[in-house]
Amino acid sequence: MNLPSLARFSERLLAPLYSTPPTRSHNTESIAIEGRNLSFSFASRQVKFVPILRDCSIRIPSGQFWMLLGPNGCGKSTLLKILAGLLNPTSGEVCVKGPKSFVFQNPDHQVVMPTVEADVAFGLGKFNLTNDEVRSRVSRALHAVGMSDYMQRSVQTLSGGQKQRVAIAGALAEACKVLLLDELTTFLDENDQMGVIRAVRNSLDTSAEVTALWVTHRLEELEYADGAIYMEDGRVVKHGDAASIRSFIEARQAAYIEEINS
Ligand SMILES: Nc1ncnc2c1ncn2[C@@H]1O[C@H](COP(=O)(O)OP(=O)(O)OP(=O)(O)O)[C@@H](O)[C@H]1O
Ligand SMILES: [Mg+2]
Repeated sequence: MNLPSLARFSERLLAPLYSTPPTRSHNTESIAIEGRNLSFSFASRQVKFVPILRDCSIRIPSGQFWMLLGPNGCGKSTLLKILAGLLNPTSGEVCVKGPKSFVFQNPDHQVVMPTVEADVAFGLGKFNLTNDEVRSRVSRALHAVGMSDYMQRSVQTLSGGQKQRVAIAGALAEACKVLLLDELTTFLDENDQMGVIRAVRNSLDTSAEVTALWVTHRLEELEYADGAIYMEDGRVVKHGDAASIRSFIEARQAAYIEEINS
């Protein structure tokens, strides 16, 4: 196993549930991802504290597909890593349902085993399942991401988007309740981009238990989202339904273009 293959991160974590009425949900009684007043700073040689996140609060209801957008360097990946438990916030609280899985940007960092079937089954060793149970979980997970026909394929022969879908199937096979996905479509062509995003949407539609937070720069992907969060300069600027966040970002971009042209 090479070092990048160790990047696939998933863990079991039980977190408290919070009751709140979401805007649109399969399960109207719980919040799957919550960050309260999260701040994060780095210490550098020159400056004692470099603030990266400033008092960020987000709430994502169970069963929904949300997106996180904002300019380069505004703190999206840092916030996602804090929600995944990969970084500790300087202050604030995190409550994320478990088990959860963090899927990285580079598709070549996701695949661990030689075949698709073995890769999806990779994380199931810890559950003490029978062979039939493993086969059934792998088959259901591959079906959810539209990869059933690739079960025996060598992962090295897959496209980037197919590798991402196999990584998502691995998380679903482990019954992950929360998927944290950081710019999965960056390295992919248009076909693969749509394949991955539809796989996530379909996984949520197949199981009301799964919630996903997807970092992206592409406004057109908001079409698939239930809700979205827009960040700038380490702050959550707007949080709401996907259509209103899209209008907000478009208005902001138009104002910026007008300003640089004036
Ligand atoms: N290890 C680190 N040390 C110092 N600064 C860091 C470190 N990691 C991230 N940063 C800084 O924190 C800020 C937020 O970074 P982050 O990667 O979260 O942004 P992002 O919104 O994901 O950007 P992008 O859209 O380019 O992926 C950036 O200014 C970045 O340079
Ligand atoms: Mg990033």
